[in-house]
Amino acid sequence: MRFTRRAAVAVVGVAALLTVAACGSSDDKGGSGSGSKKVEVFTWWADGGEKAGLDGLVAQFGKDCAGQEFVNGAVAGGAGANAKQVLASRLQTNDPPDTFQAHAGAELKDYIKAGQIEDISADYATWGLKSAFPQGLIDNLTIDGKIYSVPANIHRANVVWTNKKVVADAGITADPKDMATFLADLDKLKAKGIKTPLALGKDWTQLMLLESVLITDLGPDKFTGLWNGTTDWKGADVTKGINDFKTLLTYTNTDRDALDWTDAEKLVMDGKAAYQLMGDWEAADMDAKKFADYGYFTFPGNGDTYQWLADSFVLPKGAKNVDGTKCWLKTVGSADGQKAFNTKKGSIPARTDASPADYPKYQQDAMAAWKTFKQVPSCAHGSGCSQGFQGAANSALGAFSTKQDVAALQTAMAAAAAQFGK
Ligand code: GAL
Repeated sequence: MRFTRRAAVAVVGVAALLTVAACGSSDDKGGSGSGSKKVEVFTWWADGGEKAGLDGLVAQFGKDCAGQEFVNGAVAGGAGANAKQVLASRLQTNDPPDTFQAHAGAELKDYIKAGQIEDISADYATWGLKSAFPQGLIDNLTIDGKIYSVPANIHRANVVWTNKKVVADAGITADPKDMATFLADLDKLKAKGIKTPLALGKDWTQLMLLESVLITDLGPDKFTGLWNGTTDWKGADVTKGINDFKTLLTYTNTDRDALDWTDAEKLVMDGKAAYQLMGDWEAADMDAKKFADYGYFTFPGNGDTYQWLADSFVLPKGAKNVDGTKCWLKTVGSADGQKAFNTKKGSIPARTDASPADYPKYQQDAMAAWKTFKQVPSCAHGSGCSQGFQGAANSALGAFSTKQDVAALQTAMAAAAAQFGK
């Protein structure tokens, strides 16, 4: 079973991670027995814009679910780098939180196939959620006709965030639309003394950058095929993509493997870098950190492609406070809950009935783009690939960051696809 292999690895690192895990001590965990009114919500949203989004949802939960108590089970670390390992260990030892965040798509299906989460189709009917979300998203939450989670949002991954002043000071007046222009702009920034104009963090953030380059070099359909098995990872177009990615690395900070996404973001905010490829949680985070001088554009060459991912919440098997958790899930899916969360999180609501006027400018643009752009999934954030595939990709990227061996990365990705792909 794919997930078990990863979980076994996770146990090794878990003792150390558990020391950073507890926003609530074990006594505080939701459900210390039957009749508990505590709902332990397990996420990796511990700081900045992510925490602001969670806080919005918690405030709505307080209004909707009187008598229930939110317990914060957040484990810090971008993209769940630490949280997923802690969670895997807890699920293995039958100590689930009352609910946890899981990405719609392949990642969620890991939990469904492992029998770790409950079918909540009947609640969808009760809460009137069946028609609230786009059918394509519902399909990503469903196996064999049963629905297993409530989506909180839609995020977009293939966005470049900029420090407007740094970009303007280098004489760049328009956003680059293709790779050649992007490289020329990066050279202009270097010539202006910005030594590493493209800020980058560790493994999963590198995977995001590689994915964006591959969308450019393969086009959206062939890119999607990398995850559903219809595109060959050994192809010449993938070799070109990895070479382009290698070129981009020459513009990035050499300490990248030690940085989380927020550390790389700080390089942009501090004016040490001009650009960072990151998901649109960055908009919320820069807002939360009061950095207003940012711009954004679609990764050069991606055209009208929306690389999507969605955070969703589940009811784990063995959750101690089922009633409280269901109230949390109902809030997550409600119009008020989605507004309270997404206006602060940088994402757009998963529900189709939201009003753009309620949202900041970035999300208004994203809501319009979501309706018309071509949608492709993300491996780094679980809509496109399983956790086994993610783990293999992240370690291959880590090796590439050091050795820059194009053939080795391509071989490793092809092997990961053969082992973990569809
Ligand atoms: C993603 C998650 C986002 C955001 C991001 C950075 O995996 O879906 O909501 O939290 O990680 O941590």
